[in-house]
Amino acid sequence: MLKKEINEFITQTDPQTPMGELFRRYWLPVLLSEELTGLDCAPVKLELLGEKLIAFRDSDNQLGLIDEFCAHRGVSLWFGRNEMSGIRCPYHGWKYNFKGDCVDVPSEEAIEFKSRVKLKSYPMIEQGGVIWAYMGPAHLKPPLPAYEFSTVDPSQNYVSKRRQFSNWLQALEGGIDSSHVSFLHSGSLNRDPLIRGAKGNRYNESDKKPVFQVEKSTGGLYIGVRRNTENDQYYWRITPWLMPNFTMVPPRGDHPIHGHFWVPINDRECWAWSYSYHPTRSLTPAETLAMKEGAGIHVVVDEHHIPLARKENDYLMDRAAQTSGLYYSGIEGVGMQDASLQESMGPIQDRTKENLVSTDNGIIMMRQAIIKAAKALQENPDFAPPGIHPEDQQVRSVALIADKQIPFLDVASDALKAVPGRPHQTI
Ligand code: FES
Ligand SMILES: [Fe+2]
Repeated sequence: MLKKEINEFITQTDPQTPMGELFRRYWLPVLLSEELTGLDCAPVKLELLGEKLIAFRDSDNQLGLIDEFCAHRGVSLWFGRNEMSGIRCPYHGWKYNFKGDCVDVPSEEAIEFKSRVKLKSYPMIEQGGVIWAYMGPAHLKPPLPAYEFSTVDPSQNYVSKRRQFSNWLQALEGGIDSSHVSFLHSGSLNRDPLIRGAKGNRYNESDKKPVFQVEKSTGGLYIGVRRNTENDQYYWRITPWLMPNFTMVPPRGDHPIHGHFWVPINDRECWAWSYSYHPTRSLTPAETLAMKEGAGIHVVVDEHHIPLARKENDYLMDRAAQTSGLYYSGIEGVGMQDASLQESMGPIQDRTKENLVSTDNGIIMMRQAIIKAAKALQENPDFAPPGIHPEDQQVRSVALIADKQIPFLDVASDALKAVPGRPHQTI
């Protein structure tokens, strides 16, 4: 249970909020590469951390992320003409380059006027099929992202995104709460083509009282969850969480490894990014097709990346499937099973009313870590928060079976490191 002020502290990410400042120290995934289809393509409206922005790819393949509104009289540059190395406001023709510099004011005689006009802008880079933005102070820009999914060969990786109508934190809290898998996703363990068939799945089903053991890592946490097996061993599923919003689902058999980023749009909505990659082989055509059709953690969305199953149609609730156990909650698909329940908490969960239990230990330690980092940043704006260094980001999730007396870090510490080309530890 949190006090109201603490709940506000950890959920609000607008400019000048402590958590908003923390987010502004990391490269964040903001667009799929395919959303900026080519040179001089249509600009994309993009709200991030409560800031309304416009993204575009110019004639020279430079990526621009600038204030949505024209400095003249505030027209949305979504209407702009993306042409000849800049975006031109269609109202009176003012033009801006990818850095937000005003480069043309065609109605004014004094050509020096334009040099006094500038829109806010942020750097973007493209890596792993994703366009990333950094929205913090220029002198604190971290090294490029090193998450393994974004550095493997493109044939090994698939990324999707969907709009979620909830605060980012309750989405993240679902991602590090492994205990709900035995309930909410139980119907998918035997059926989903990107999950079924792994030996470990049987322990998810047979032991519904998992024990959490959470250890600190340099970039965040390792959330170890153990379940009993049929003999004197534990089945461990270990989820790395990296500050502030990155997780990896523990693997199942030879299936791709899945994971998420949750990026605040504003305090009431977030982008749920989902990636699936295999560290040592290309994804098969069947796997890629299944992801496009909503298998695994992916979701079928419309042209605005809003899921087809949504609040307005009751997420296509199927009570018969709920009764039979086909889908434990009555909602189809792992991604929408999570999203539907997280949205049902309201746009910002009222954590003054929650009742946490032992399986929420990962959530409790995560909250402590982000509060500590956000407070450290408040005191020292140059503070380098955990998780911004490439070596922090080179982690993997792990699933293994080990003797009961062995602490999970003793058997998993090596496998938790992402080493290019090395097979991952999975069962
Ligand atoms: S409002 Fe954009 S040029 Fe006038
Ligand atoms: Fe889930």
